[in-house]
Amino acid sequence: MAARQLTIRQPDDWHVHLRDGAMLQAVAPATAAQFARAIVMPNLRPPVTTVAAASAYRERIRAALPDGSGFTPLMTAYLTDTIDPEEIERGFGEEVFTACKLYPAGATTNSDSGVTAIDRIEPVLAVMERIGMPLLIHGEVTDAEIDIFDREAVFIERVLEPLLARHPGLKVVLEHITTSDAVDFVRSGPANLAATITPHHLHINRNAMFAGGLRPDFYCLPVAKRELHRIALRAAATSGNPKFFLGTDSAPHSREAKESACGCAGIYNAPFAIESYAAVFEQENALHRLEGFASEFGPRFYGLPLNPGSITLEEQPLAVPPVLHLNDAAGTSVNLVPFHAGQTLPWRVQAHEAQ
Ligand code: DOR
Ligand code: ZN
Repeated sequence: MAARQLTIRQPDDWHVHLRDGAMLQAVAPATAAQFARAIVMPNLRPPVTTVAAASAYRERIRAALPDGSGFTPLMTAYLTDTIDPEEIERGFGEEVFTACKLYPAGATTNSDSGVTAIDRIEPVLAVMERIGMPLLIHGEVTDAEIDIFDREAVFIERVLEPLLARHPGLKVVLEHITTSDAVDFVRSGPANLAATITPHHLHINRNAMFAGGLRPDFYCLPVAKRELHRIALRAAATSGNPKFFLGTDSAPHSREAKESACGCAGIYNAPFAIESYAAVFEQENALHRLEGFASEFGPRFYGLPLNPGSITLEEQPLAVPPVLHLNDAAGTSVNLVPFHAGQTLPWRVQAHEAQ
């Protein structure tokens, strides 16, 4: 019998880290192979805070793509305490910036230049609200006395709720949500509030980080939470509610950087991202809802056209390698452990049809 197939409109990734330099060259092709567009995170060193820096970074991304790739990087500005609202408005007007990213200072990788207190960026938030520019939020408080597993829920209460009250017209994406608190808050919030959900937060709970020893490949921020939260995330992602859409948060760090004394946060899921989501949707008997989550709700929220092309998945086992050895143009090798390393996924991408 022929394998079951599923053809969907080509998806986009509404949250990805493509990095720079050798790592960019190693990882960009994987995202471009599955997704037509991606919202590219600005947490480089130094962070992307100007129109010129974003344009130059966009060029470096394009240069790292295979010939003939139709992939479109959508750039974001990294908000700092001293960000210039005029620069943000100009970048949005010139279609260099698609959105701004709010990292609370110290919340995660390369966030030290982030925002130390939300009132510092009131002027830029007012501009964004006026021009319809989305704010993408890493939603965790950074206070050391708040338990790491509570940081998202506390952020929603202390920062996000008041922010939405002050800026009722601001488009906000709460990124990579990890809790039932976030699911409930977004679901019951206004239409201009949405959330992205990663594949890893749909597959793993916090036990994965400690299964048989410390497992750095499952460490990311916000950190995976307990099982009841994973269940709530799976229900939200597969519900057909357009407030929840795909954002992988693929965040590559070399194997050596992950497995060091102080391992970096981040999970590299780009190479098998759509297959990872498809496995979840199948388990939840919701494959018919994958297209909305992966390919329709994101562009509608951002006010962008749907992709004309399609991809076809088929029900064929996909063995995920234990480690990927990727090379940049200069031949520098980067070792990356992909999400699902050593596992077999039930669906795989069979064909792309660009249009
Ligand atoms: O796990 C993460 N890694 N979470 C983030 O917010 C940043 C990311 C990174 O850049 O490595
Ligand atoms: Zn991220």
